[in-house]
Amino acid sequence: MSNNQAENASLPIGIFDSGVGGLTVLAALLRHLPSEDYYFLGDTARLPYGTKGPETIINYTVRAAARIVKSTPIKMLVVACNTASSVCLPTLRAMYPHIPVLGVIEPGARAAVSASRSGCIAVLATEATVRGGAYTEAIHRLNPEAKVLSRACTLFVSLAEEGWLEGDIVEGTARRYLSDILAAPARPDTILLGCTHFPLLQKAIANVAGEGVRIVDSAETTAGAVSALLAEQHLASPSARPGSIHFMATDNVARFAAIGGNFLGRSLAGTDVELVDL
Ligand code: DGL
Repeated sequence: MSNNQAENASLPIGIFDSGVGGLTVLAALLRHLPSEDYYFLGDTARLPYGTKGPETIINYTVRAAARIVKSTPIKMLVVACNTASSVCLPTLRAMYPHIPVLGVIEPGARAAVSASRSGCIAVLATEATVRGGAYTEAIHRLNPEAKVLSRACTLFVSLAEEGWLEGDIVEGTARRYLSDILAAPARPDTILLGCTHFPLLQKAIANVAGEGVRIVDSAETTAGAVSALLAEQHLASPSARPGSIHFMATDNVARFAAIGGNFLGRSLAGTDVELVDL
């Protein structure tokens, strides 16, 4: 291990999402890598990204990543937003060639391909992620024979933020989005939740999908991929103490904290979150 690697290993991991959704990825990272330090930025001022065009998403994401790096040097950047990952990874990798930049698309595709027995996979995501086709491409790289049906489920983002996670309204919405996919001749045996918000609605989506359909998301596999990459590049934190988390949001830190607690799985206070501008 070089001196540089040893020094870099003590730096925090930068993690970015368009809002609170990426906290589901942070929660998985905390389970896998509790001794790491994290700088999390949620761009709550510009959420949602999923209904925007690719140029706007790239513009916002580049500025958000730069804002994290302005706060602290980082040893790795995790793009914990499916929409940003689907359009912006090459740009970010070109901007930060000295650190690994990891998105959630590849790990999510891997989770879906290994869960599916039939090779028929439904991808539920935002409009921008579906339009860009990044999940379909990533799944086909792993299994060229896979049959992928994608569906933009825009309302799921609002339902998750509203905390409406179960019940008639959520299941009715899921039924509307999923009914033709579930009635397709090649009925998917696996549903990939390709948006940070959707894991919160997993129970309702599972009720609608019925038995025999597996539901996977990218949070756990992304955390596994981060862990493997840190080990491979000798960048894992040398410390055994519990790591720290620095939360930043670009608007309404009180709302970020109130809603974010659901996504993170533990309560947050507005005073835990720094308000920043891009
Ligand atoms: N974080 C976004 C994603 O995973 C969902 C919310 C948004 O549209 O910005 O695609």
